[in-house]
Amino acid sequence: MQRLAPALREDGVPLDLISLIKTILAACKEISFRVGQGQMSGVMGSTLDENIQGEVQKRLDVVANQLFKDITLESGFVRAISSEEEDTSVPGNPNGKYIVSFDPLDGSSNIDINSLIGTIFSIMEVDEDADPSDPNIFMQPGTSQVCAGYVLYGPSTMLAMTTGNGTHFYTLDRTHGSFMRTERNVQIEPETSEFAVNMSNQRFWHEPMKNYIDDLVAGSDGPRGRNFNMRWIAAMVGDVHRVLVRGGIFAYPADTKSADKPYKLRLMYEANPMSFLVEQAGGLSVTSTGRIMEMEPSGIHQRVEVILGAKKEVEKCLSYYK
Ligand code: AHG
Ligand code: MN
Ligand code: MN
Repeated sequence: MQRLAPALREDGVPLDLISLIKTILAACKEISFRVGQGQMSGVMGSTLDENIQGEVQKRLDVVANQLFKDITLESGFVRAISSEEEDTSVPGNPNGKYIVSFDPLDGSSNIDINSLIGTIFSIMEVDEDADPSDPNIFMQPGTSQVCAGYVLYGPSTMLAMTTGNGTHFYTLDRTHGSFMRTERNVQIEPETSEFAVNMSNQRFWHEPMKNYIDDLVAGSDGPRGRNFNMRWIAAMVGDVHRVLVRGGIFAYPADTKSADKPYKLRLMYEANPMSFLVEQAGGLSVTSTGRIMEMEPSGIHQRVEVILGAKKEVEKCLSYYK
């Protein structure tokens, strides 16, 4: 086990990026503490407000967003931030080298049932003359990320992070308040017998996805000739964490449930950072038409189809679209 900062220095991560990561984790530790206090912390339940995406904000969405925003903007390292809970980007230090996109609280529907939730973040660099107030400075493909990660507020608080040199796990040592590296170079097995998808949307999926999942469910009686198991945590952080730990395929496919919203997950602060982590662990992360991290973004809250995880299984899924 090794403390966060020495481990990052060993991996050749620049000092200012290490400082930004430590800043982000300071916010996450604070969120972790409030989550751990549960109903005693006064952050459970819903607000009466909606975010720009028309979703009712939970109290914890708002509190986590405020903590994350304040701490990162005050740090001086950040030119601007963008968040699921902010209408547009928020300017920071005009000399800051980095921009941060984040989902302050992923898995909001799990808050009130005391189940898995987390924070997802993605860090990119900006040009020297980039205008802090211009949201277009965020319009870079996922391949430009210099760091991505999530913090999972589970029975233990864990960080999964990559700076492009493998995906590593860290665990929060609550006694000393520091993240310790507990697993290096996490690898996703290329083959799997476990899938994660919200089956209640099945009738709204496009034919290829319907057929693919039908064949998984048919198990040993179907063309795959073996049984598959299903798991669904309803928080991308939890589902992706399981994929990183013990393999599997996770999908949030396109659906026709509502005409104006063909996809669910957001590119900049859900799909891109998770794609970076999954690819660095030897997995694939794609839409039905290409690699997620190569997409040219068109908006901060843009949504995207996601199919990620075990390399061979993702390839198998894509073969249904050919
Ligand atoms: P958020 O809580 O940040 O809005 O994200 C929730 C997302 C994602 O974490 C999860 O995979 C998905 O929504 C689950 O949604 P459904 O339960 O509607 O399928
Ligand atoms: Mn989310
Ligand atoms: Mn969220």
